[in-house]
Amino acid sequence: MFFTKYPSPANFSFPTRVDGKTGEATIGKRKVQLFAKSFEGGISHVGATDAKTWPANLCLAPLDIPAEVVAEARWTAKGDLEIDCGNQLVLRTVPGEGFGLSGRASLFQFVMPADAQFFGMGQKNYGQLELSGIRSTFWNTDVWSDFHWAQWGEHPADPPYFSLPYLAVRTGDKWFGFLLHNPSPAFMETPGSDESRIFVEWQRTSANLILGTRDGEPNLWVIVGDSLAEITRKLQKLIGTTPVPPLWSIGYQQSRWGYGGHDDLLALDKKFAAAKIPCSGLWLDLDYMDGFRVFQTDAKMFPKTAQVTADKLAKNGRRIVPIIDPGVKFEPGYRVYDDGHRKDVFCKNQEGKEFIGMVWPGQTVFPDFTKSSVRKWWAGYAREFRECGFGAAWVDMNDPSTGPIDPHDMLFEDGTRQHLEHRNQYALGMQMATVDGFRAAFPNERPFLLSRSGFIGSSRYSAIWTGDNVSNDFYLKLSLTTSLGMSISGLPFNGPDIGGFGGDSSPDLMIRWMQACFLFPFCRNHATKDSRNQEPFAYNATTAQIIGHYVRLRYKFLPYLYQLFCEQELVGDPVLRPLMYEFGDRKLAKADDSFMVGPAILQAPIITERGKSRQVTLPGRAPWYDLMQGKWVKAGKHTLDVKRRETPIYLRAGSVVATQVGMPTTTDVDLLRPEVLIAVPPGWTGETEFRYVADDGLTLDYQKNGRSVITGTVTAVKGEISIQYLQTGSGFGQISPTFVVVGAVREFRVNGRMVTQAANRYRL
Ligand code: NOJ
Repeated sequence: MFFTKYPSPANFSFPTRVDGKTGEATIGKRKVQLFAKSFEGGISHVGATDAKTWPANLCLAPLDIPAEVVAEARWTAKGDLEIDCGNQLVLRTVPGEGFGLSGRASLFQFVMPADAQFFGMGQKNYGQLELSGIRSTFWNTDVWSDFHWAQWGEHPADPPYFSLPYLAVRTGDKWFGFLLHNPSPAFMETPGSDESRIFVEWQRTSANLILGTRDGEPNLWVIVGDSLAEITRKLQKLIGTTPVPPLWSIGYQQSRWGYGGHDDLLALDKKFAAAKIPCSGLWLDLDYMDGFRVFQTDAKMFPKTAQVTADKLAKNGRRIVPIIDPGVKFEPGYRVYDDGHRKDVFCKNQEGKEFIGMVWPGQTVFPDFTKSSVRKWWAGYAREFRECGFGAAWVDMNDPSTGPIDPHDMLFEDGTRQHLEHRNQYALGMQMATVDGFRAAFPNERPFLLSRSGFIGSSRYSAIWTGDNVSNDFYLKLSLTTSLGMSISGLPFNGPDIGGFGGDSSPDLMIRWMQACFLFPFCRNHATKDSRNQEPFAYNATTAQIIGHYVRLRYKFLPYLYQLFCEQELVGDPVLRPLMYEFGDRKLAKADDSFMVGPAILQAPIITERGKSRQVTLPGRAPWYDLMQGKWVKAGKHTLDVKRRETPIYLRAGSVVATQVGMPTTTDVDLLRPEVLIAVPPGWTGETEFRYVADDGLTLDYQKNGRSVITGTVTAVKGEISIQYLQTGSGFGQISPTFVVVGAVREFRVNGRMVTQAANRYRL
């Protein structure tokens, strides 16, 4: 399959006859069974079955389907699809050409009004939040291997590593989510091309919205709602929210291709401690392995076992997170290969032999993660790996990358399934198996994984980083748009390689990158072999001081981030949000150089290496608290000069944000004694409810009464502030909050008692 070419509806057949009673449709020479079902919350499932053409849905991760309701979606006698919301028709396919087939491929074409706006598409690198006029493919790709560098160095390369075939569409005041629940490659085409850039007819995309898949049973889920938040929550519940991760995994992470083992890790540990910069994870790339053999550690790297190193690092709250690749070195005599070969776990080629790819160790075979027996086999190794001192894993190259070898020869399910039928969920299978192994090793501990590729369902198992990037302005900007897109597509735990993976990050670039991403859901600094060192202390003293400050600030805000992850698990709101998620304004569709962290914090970072000023638009009418300057500012447009050590960051009026007391210099987080910021503008009148939870941040005890909770209300009447709160759960002990009102306040009461305010100018 060419992943840079797109099927045309002109090559598809459309229904010519539909049996009103049975739903059987004649499409070309075929008869398929159309179906349309609806579920609570404005969710519909539509598609077709035909046992002769497609096996039943091959997705590895099932959806969490709500209760069925009277159908809001229906096929008409002409084979068109119509979807209602509250008895009103809100969506329909193109008359006569709504659902089409071409061989094993299928597509839907929806009528779109001229004002439609498009978002999401999972992980994409277009550098913009709004996605009108785009043709895109969903095929998990090893970008650096499968495209020429000139295509990705400073340009959007599509498709990237991760496929989540989901599109959010706004038309008028309705929002629609479209999810193609089918692991074979998907394609999407959105109307609304920029006419000024069209000089060849084929550059103009269709006037209709086209959503399709190259193979596999057509399974489209349509979610209808009144806001982006509403459809995102429903999507996240459907595909699975992310279980609240261990606290250490949302701390700062330091990685580099080139760190070896014990000596390097202890040297890093010392440097972080000396610099008083917290760091919770030290990451090992391929170098710790014995000749790129997965699950085989080079004895020289850990002369006294990894556990000895892990125990030393644990004293400072740090974990070792090594990489593992799915490719197993093809080498008789190597225990993982021999064992896998004996148990017949590897993917087959067209000739029924083990498929051979070419990755780091040279010739490589690939466990067939689509089979539960193989996942069980892998889980055994993952368990051993986790038990020997490694605190988590980073699963890489699981697109799967086969190097220069054509992956189409790699078949699944004992050679019975073509490559494209499962490719996009290969990484998901690897995540499932690795997590199973970790759970077997430590049944009461929350497992942590970072994965490069994945599919619908990965949100339940893994954090995802945005893949290989480069130390330049293009990728700094992309860090925002790619992560925002993922966040509203059901992938809330994400982040880029901060500082850039390829190339050398200059001091200024590193500072701007850190300022932009220090509150991202996942916060890891990673760099490739032979690039300059990118740790904070690898830079000159002033730069190191600034970078270190933002790392400390992350730890200061860790209680808030933790609350957002807990909310995410419960409700499905992402941690990182576009402004339009919080403020409905259509004009904010293009506001993708600023973002919200949760509902309370707005950041508008400098996103160029040399940038010194920028325009900031603060949405809504209420003032915002400027955390850098320590003052309330008006909503609306501002032009700011931004010093090297500063980044524009604001608190929303009426918000409640839990932080740590003081400025943390270690990885310790005391969730029981938060310093809670209350942002109430002078003279403001309003009310905010809040909820704060504390638990051990590590185990599953929070699911079994191991959590403490306070709930409360902040009421402000013309600058007189009253906080009423109550501890409603005590499973983890007593929560003793300190409240800090940012900005001046006339009178301040906590649970009825008048208190004095220590300072009225709060600054970071
Ligand atoms: C590719 C990954 O994307 C990158 O992060 C990693 O450093 C290299 N593989 C080497 O393992």
